[in-house]
Amino acid sequence: MTERETWATRLGFILAAVGSAVGLGNIWQFPFKTATNGGAAFLVVYLLAAFLIGFPIILGEFAIGRRAKINAVEAFQRLKHPAWTIVGALGLFTGLWILSYYSVVGGWVLRYIGGSITAGYFGDPAMYFDSVSMGWDAIALHAVFMALTAGIVAFGVEDGIEKATKLMVPSIVVILVGLAVYAFTLDGAADAYSFYLTPDFTYLANNLGDVVPYAVGQAFFSLSLGMGAMITYASYVGRDDSLPADGGLITVLNTAVGVLAGFVVLPLLFAQFGQLPETAAGGGPGALFISVASAFADLGLLGRAAGAVFFFVVLIAALSSAISLLEVVTSYCVDRYGLSRPGVAFGVAGVLFLLGTLSAWNTAWLGWFDTLAYKVLLPASVLLGVVFVGWVYAPQAVDEIEAGSNLEWFGSVWIWSIRTFVLLGVVATLLLGVNSIYGMPPLPF
Ligand code: PHE
Repeated sequence: MTERETWATRLGFILAAVGSAVGLGNIWQFPFKTATNGGAAFLVVYLLAAFLIGFPIILGEFAIGRRAKINAVEAFQRLKHPAWTIVGALGLFTGLWILSYYSVVGGWVLRYIGGSITAGYFGDPAMYFDSVSMGWDAIALHAVFMALTAGIVAFGVEDGIEKATKLMVPSIVVILVGLAVYAFTLDGAADAYSFYLTPDFTYLANNLGDVVPYAVGQAFFSLSLGMGAMITYASYVGRDDSLPADGGLITVLNTAVGVLAGFVVLPLLFAQFGQLPETAAGGGPGALFISVASAFADLGLLGRAAGAVFFFVVLIAALSSAISLLEVVTSYCVDRYGLSRPGVAFGVAGVLFLLGTLSAWNTAWLGWFDTLAYKVLLPASVLLGVVFVGWVYAPQAVDEIEAGSNLEWFGSVWIWSIRTFVLLGVVATLLLGVNSIYGMPPLPF
């Protein structure tokens, strides 16, 4: 057997994990969810969810991955708990499920980079979205996005993922800051800020049951939890790294990028509409594309440039996340069956491309895939992982979390949090998600 790859540097791991975390969840969904769920009040709940629930869970996944030093599925066998392989398998399945439609949205983003440069959507953004979001066009660009993803994963951990994300993640931050500064100069920015930053606690109090699971689910998705991605990435980490420090930094950066995206998107919308447009209020697939595109369309030549840059940043964020989803299954097939990495990456991408054609053909499918992932698959998979580290594997997990860090008290606080409020948060999210499933969009047939 050839020696297993590792990250070349600690920074490489951190940037790859941030690249996985920062994606469509941050730029496409987060600003809209915040905007339509009480603005700053949602932000407060989300921050609590990310740091109090997401952060302990990401550490749990890191502990499993680094201790096992193998892919997310076989990790549980190597840790001598083969029955818990179900956690890795469910994570892998959920990741593939998500990647199938994530790539469709990635394809739209590609299309909108072109559409910004050529001013293609300037005439009628809503009609443009309708014509490019479904059908052959969407399928073709979904194929391109999937091929790009597989292309990076094929190069391997150090030469592919690490090199790519080292370039992508800093670019995302720099470009978003630039766009936020630009957005600051727009008329309407002040209104947007007050909307974004003035909490409406009455709204929160009246909608707690909806907002909390929504925020927690968003935190899971955004931190790439429950999909084996963080287990896999941590399996390439050395034992002298401090997991609490790395996990903390990753959580902070991921949250910061989401918040930053709000500072770009909301002023754009307020400048254009004076308030939140209806397309955004729905927060559905069209939100980013139609409303933000309308805002660019209004700005003429400057809008072309700003639009192209904006969608470019969304593209690299989406790509650096997609590669982590594909890496989960790739590392499994490479570790387990000794298959060639490029072969697996492109082979799986091909199969997922086919599955994703459903979503590319009709966005109702996309909504259905997404809802099931958010409300059931993700929280279920996260819950199993929490039970595993919190009870089945607790002493070793604590040991792993403390290895490489000098914080001797940290492990016991961490495991206590997992066993109490983390568990409670995850169970509540799953129950409320399953319960609301009757409200799922009907299947498109
Ligand atoms: N975290 C990514 C996002 O916010 C999505 C993702 C989920 C990526 C799970 C990898 C694994 O867009």
